[in-house]
Amino acid sequence: KIAAKIGPSILNADLSQLYDESQKLLDNGADYLHLDVMDGHFVPNLTFGAPVVKCLRNKVKEAFFETHMMVSRPEQWINDMADAGVDQYTFHIEPVDDVASVCRKVREAGMKVGLAIKPKTPVDVVEQYVEMADLVLIMTVEPGFGGQKFMEDMMPKVKHLRDNHPALNIEVDGGVALKTIDCCAKAGANWIVSGTGVIKATDQEAVIKQLRNSVLQ
Ligand code: DX5
Ligand code: ZN
Repeated sequence: KIAAKIGPSILNADLSQLYDESQKLLDNGADYLHLDVMDGHFVPNLTFGAPVVKCLRNKVKEAFFETHMMVSRPEQWINDMADAGVDQYTFHIEPVDDVASVCRKVREAGMKVGLAIKPKTPVDVVEQYVEMADLVLIMTVEPGFGGQKFMEDMMPKVKHLRDNHPALNIEVDGGVALKTIDCCAKAGANWIVSGTGVIKATDQEAVIKQLRNSVLQ
């Protein structure tokens, strides 16, 4: 049985308290932190880059950091993010000409490789690269903002990947919360990003536990 990992997205947290919010999530049982990096070009929003991630890493020594790179030139930030202490570099393949080469550079920099696709990108576009990746991220909203509605019609992509790649880590991101977790789990997702669903919960620990249990069932 493959592992179930819950990775809260801090995008909709109080970012003036980035460290406290992150530490609270980890204390409440988060398996990793999902850090949303946006460049205002690939997506219509801006967040933060390697300098902020590095500051967070200086205070949070142990946690697994995944950066979700919603950027037009993912190859540009590989070394900065590695230097900032990122563990997994998950990038969108849509704007990339040579995916294999970016995967290689991410690995050479000492990070794990995640490959992400937007809702309109067919699953076979990413499937051809699964051998080079540690994880595939199937977006369940249009990337750019937290708090959007979960797109259930993305589940066939997850199921297709799971059926053909039993050991692959498959991540879902966007609108995933207690209401939508069962359908993600049933399709075969095992890395679960949840933003507002966890951040806004009064009992974060209970929500994280329930999300994990749903995947393990
Ligand atoms: C959206 C980001 C997500 C987002 C998830 O572009 O990639 O990680 O923060 O937040 P929720 O769970 O609220 O949709
Ligand atoms: Zn994300």
